[in-house]
Amino acid sequence: MIYVLNGPNLGRLGTREPAVYGSTTYADLERLCLETGARLGLEVQVRQTDAEFKMITWLHAAADEGADVVLNPAAWSHYNIAIRDAAAMLRGRLIEVHISNIHTREEFRHHSVISAVAAGVIAGLGVDGYRLALEHLARFAAEAATSVNSVGHP
Ligand code: DQA
Repeated sequence: MIYVLNGPNLGRLGTREPAVYGSTTYADLERLCLETGARLGLEVQVRQTDAEFKMITWLHAAADEGADVVLNPAAWSHYNIAIRDAAAMLRGRLIEVHISNIHTREEFRHHSVISAVAAGVIAGLGVDGYRLALEHLARFAAEAATSVNSVGHP
C-alpha cells in the first residue's frame, strides 16, 4: 500500500487560490493518484485532513506497515515538528510533494521541517508532482526487488 496524505486546506483545491494552486479539484487529485496507481499496479489510498492528530495517526499506521508515503504536509511543512517526528518513523520511502514552488513564494515557505526526513522533494510542478512521486516509488520498488533477486535472496 502507498499512502498519499494531504494536510490542511488541500481539500479546498480547485477553489483555493487558483492562481497559486491551479483549478484541479481535490476530487481530481484523488482520481489522478488512483488512476496512476492502477496503471502502475500499485495499491494507493488518498487522504486529506485538517487535523494534526489524524495525520499523525495515519503516519503511525504507515510506519507500522512499512508503507511508502507521498506527503503534502501543506502549511505544517513550515513549522510542525510533531508531523516531522511522525514522518521520521516511516520505514518505507517518503516523498514530500508541494503543488506550488515554495521557494519562489513568501520567505516563511522556503524551509520545510519535513524535507530532512524525506527521501526526496517535488515542488512547483502542480498536481503532476503526485504522479511523478508515485512513478518514482513504483520504479524504486521494482529496482529494489531486482537487486535483491540478483544477490540470490527470494
Ligand atoms: C503547499 C505549500 C504550502 O506552503 C501551503 O501552506 C500549502 C500547500 C503546496 O502544495 O504548494 O497548503 O504545500
